[in-house]
Amino acid sequence: MSTRITSTPGSAAMETVRLGQTDLRVTPIAYGTWQFGGEWGAVDEPAAVEAIQRALALGVNFFDTAQAYGFGVSERILGGALAAELRSRRDELVIATKGGLRIDDERGLVRDSSPEWLRRGVEESLKNLRIDHIDLYQVHWPDAEVPFAETGAALAQLIEEGKIRHVGVSNFSVEQMAELSRTTAVETAQPPYHLFRREIEDTVLPYAAENDIGVLVYGPLAHGLLGGTMDAETSFPDDDWRSKSSAFEGETFAHNLAAVKRLGQFAGERGASVSQLAIAWALANPAVDVAIVGARRLEHLQESIGGAGLELGTEDLEEIERIMVDSTPVGGPSPETV
Ligand SMILES: NC(=O)c1ccc[n+]([C@@H]2O[C@H](COP(=O)([O-])OP(=O)(O)OC[C@H]3O[C@@H](n4cnc5c(N)ncnc54)[C@H](OP(=O)(O)O)[C@@H]3O)[C@@H](O)[C@H]2O)c1
Repeated sequence: MSTRITSTPGSAAMETVRLGQTDLRVTPIAYGTWQFGGEWGAVDEPAAVEAIQRALALGVNFFDTAQAYGFGVSERILGGALAAELRSRRDELVIATKGGLRIDDERGLVRDSSPEWLRRGVEESLKNLRIDHIDLYQVHWPDAEVPFAETGAALAQLIEEGKIRHVGVSNFSVEQMAELSRTTAVETAQPPYHLFRREIEDTVLPYAAENDIGVLVYGPLAHGLLGGTMDAETSFPDDDWRSKSSAFEGETFAHNLAAVKRLGQFAGERGASVSQLAIAWALANPAVDVAIVGARRLEHLQESIGGAGLELGTEDLEEIERIMVDSTPVGGPSPETV
């Protein structure tokens, strides 16, 4: 669903793709900044700024954040790190953020796609990011309590005012995307997708391909599992959400680590790392335009960006299927489920 061309965002050359029917040209790797919101443990702000600037220097022109990533924390770090570039070459950078989650005094994190909350979210995101328009504004999670027509009308109005350029959704089913599309064009989808989580292959991806919707997938490294640096003894600090995730403990974890090891051996034979193989695998699906990668460590970031340059042929993909045949799918609720 994309036209691939070569351009030179930042100082390094990287191929860019057009996102669905939008005029946005983005690198196939987006740098994800959930890691800088606090849900992955304490945030080292200078290190985060350095990592964002390194991503830019390595040629990445597409950055993904959200209001809910620390309610302003991640957006402020991103806006600050990119401030000079956003002043000098705004048109070459593509900033995606999300709204529609709110902290409720009694219920904690809740979905809220009401026109009032979305508008307030856009205003706050613009301020935090230090920009006058958001290239891609995504509804973070579908909200069953607000009619899609109201959400769509609010987003259409924000486009009209020039505050946001394009509307996308995240964690939406096909039916929910179709419903929202009746009021405003849904131009992108951001679903979870990695080697252990593939349900969108039968749902969102065919729909997106048929309707020329840009697809940016999150969690291509299974939130670190496919980084190849974990073993059965790996544990996480209490303030890292993975310390409470069943994907990172017990039998499922041990079992899937064995698959990661075999994938790593196969990647090594191809002169690649397992993280590069995992990202290349996600991007090899013709309906996927972009893999959003999170990484706090510079060496992780640098290595993973290399996944965009790894071409996988039919035989490679078949071998990966064979390796994965015994793995345990990690589906169900996403880490950010609210
Ligand atoms: N819309 C949604 O609901 C939603 C949900 C989840 C994520 N997202 C977006 O997608 C982005 C990416 O997803 P994600 O961060 O959950 O998962 P991910 O990209 O699959 O995994 C990120 C983790 O992988 C590790 N990693 C990266 N490269 C590595 C390498 N070469 N070797 C070893 N480990 C490596 C990083 O470790 P270090 O941090 O230690 O470097 C990082 O913690 C997020 O930042 C966010 O922007 C959106």
